[in-house]
Amino acid sequence: MSISKAVSNTSTQNSIEKRLQIKRLVEATKIVTSTAGRDVVKGLTQNPKSLPAYYFYDDRGSELFEEICELPEYYLTRTERIILQQYASEIAEITGSCELVELGSGSSTKTRILLDAYQQLGYPLRYLPIDVSAGMLENSARQLLADYPALQVYALAGTYEMALAQLPTTDLPTRMIGFIGSSLGNLNAQECDVFFSQITSALQVGEYFLLGIDLHKSKEILEPAYNDSQGVTAAFNINMLEHLNRRFEGNFDRTQFEHWSFYNEVEHQIEMHLRSVRSQTVQLKALNLTVNFDQGETILTEISRKFDLDTIQQQLQTKGLVPIHTWTDSNQWFGLLLCQMQA
Ligand code: AVI
Repeated sequence: MSISKAVSNTSTQNSIEKRLQIKRLVEATKIVTSTAGRDVVKGLTQNPKSLPAYYFYDDRGSELFEEICELPEYYLTRTERIILQQYASEIAEITGSCELVELGSGSSTKTRILLDAYQQLGYPLRYLPIDVSAGMLENSARQLLADYPALQVYALAGTYEMALAQLPTTDLPTRMIGFIGSSLGNLNAQECDVFFSQITSALQVGEYFLLGIDLHKSKEILEPAYNDSQGVTAAFNINMLEHLNRRFEGNFDRTQFEHWSFYNEVEHQIEMHLRSVRSQTVQLKALNLTVNFDQGETILTEISRKFDLDTIQQQLQTKGLVPIHTWTDSNQWFGLLLCQMQA
């Protein structure tokens, strides 16, 4: 490497270090650790059985989820990306220079579309990604800082609840909390209500909330999205058992459970289950737990709710989050709502 190239690499590195701050919400990690497993015991000892969806996301699960997002049947990511590509500059024009707080930022891929829009308009932007995985946060933050020389990143590693309660003050004119990817659909109605209250507590009057949601559509489109022909969603679902085995010294046999998902048209939600192919007993030693399964018995691992625009807009409004703009794709499959916090 030439001396000038080495000097320039070092100065880029220095500039990244200056523009990056990572706060580990230790208390949040402790809470996660101390309650870890209690929810598994609760879910597996009730009838019908269930497991919290966040157990999908060990390293392998996160990789499989990235693969799901690229599947031809999984229209969600692609459709939301199209909407963002089309309307990101409109969003930036509405908010002006702002601090973008992103919940469940993951690899921050779609965020780049927003960052590009703000950069093109010459708006200073500070990015606060929030994710439970500190490793993922740091890696994606470093990549973003290398690609956006004017960007400041303040990453918060912890749960949404803890991070939203501890947002640092900003000297930028406004703030926008982004929750894209339709992760709202993975919360039940009551969790959704609590979540909206946490958002309103974190925002000042006039600040923004950007929400991406999957909309009602036919079973013929929905079911293949959660039951793809390559079996990636099935592998993602079954991987939860491997994760539990590792984490809680379990002996789930992955070959003795099968992936089962369907659209519940009454509740407007995809339900994803693991079905026991025979009667069997499973132990999770670290939790001191023995679980019996009948043949055909299921564990609910995830709900993925699909929304109606009018209903969700009203719900947001009652929480003081006034939808000021809603964008959809040409099929009306996915919605992106920009809300503003009212007095
Ligand atoms: C993360 N979440 C929005 C996904 C969804 O579509 O509900 C999780 C997922 N589960 C199966 N495929 C994707």
